[in-house]
Amino acid sequence: MKNNPTICAVIGYPIGHSMSPAVHNAGYEELGLNYSYKALEFQSSLLAINEMKKRNYRGYSVTIPHKVSIMQYLKKINSVALDIGAVNTIVNENGILNGYNTDFIGAIRSIKEVITLKDKKAVILGAGGAARAIGFGLKNEGVELLIQNRTVEKAKLLASSLSCNYSGINPNLIKNYDIIINTTPIGMYPNEDMSIINDIPKGCVVQDIVYNPLETKLLRIAKKKGCKTISGIGMFLYQAVEQFKLFTGREAPIEKMKQVILEELS
Ligand code: ATR
Repeated sequence: MKNNPTICAVIGYPIGHSMSPAVHNAGYEELGLNYSYKALEFQSSLLAINEMKKRNYRGYSVTIPHKVSIMQYLKKINSVALDIGAVNTIVNENGILNGYNTDFIGAIRSIKEVITLKDKKAVILGAGGAARAIGFGLKNEGVELLIQNRTVEKAKLLASSLSCNYSGINPNLIKNYDIIINTTPIGMYPNEDMSIINDIPKGCVVQDIVYNPLETKLLRIAKKKGCKTISGIGMFLYQAVEQFKLFTGREAPIEKMKQVILEELS
């Protein structure tokens, strides 16, 4: 008979739509690990943390709305997650719940698959949590940044923590940039006919964090201009890959996990 499995879970609200259980469980199965991954729904971070302290789970993925509010209850948070101001991963290390951020690793890894980052300039469209994680990741790689956001005051705030330029959404200011990243929900189902910008410079790399649809209008425009594109599954896949390693200590079966994401999305 098998020993009790090591358990991991995603916490969020609502959580029914989460692809994480399917992706992580497929990874465990592929490697023959005696692990199991669940979805737990908590409306508040306090409820979540109280329950997490009672359960001896190995690790948690943290999603909306807990990424920032859960931080106040964690005794240890790694320094990059502190800089970003958000935690998307918690690992139970000898009974202590430690916070990490793998979102930025996911974004950077997916960008690095198509472009080297040395001496590059990137525009981040949006100034919310995802923009913050990606911004810190790119700054870490020495990329020169411009933050553009509908609400300029929020662009200014993020730009000041990243020591970079900012503006409102303005395609005229992005002509000399190598990388353009959409972190806003524009273009997401059911508004697939929308794009945050319609004028994209030739030859740059364009990433969209929206993955529903897989090819957003922004990415279609970019392809027509001969740009390389990165779909939203890149960031999601590689943040999960990094979590898998933190939870199990093993390299994740990336192709299997990617296949499950594509199946879930179709
Ligand atoms: P997340 O944490 O997932 O990044 P968020 O914090 O809600 O989400 O941020 C969403 C981002 O998308 C914000 O930058 C937001 O712009 P504002 O700061 O002006 O609100 C941007 N956004 C959302 N809807 C938008 C729209 N219709 N047009 C332009 N920007 C939009």
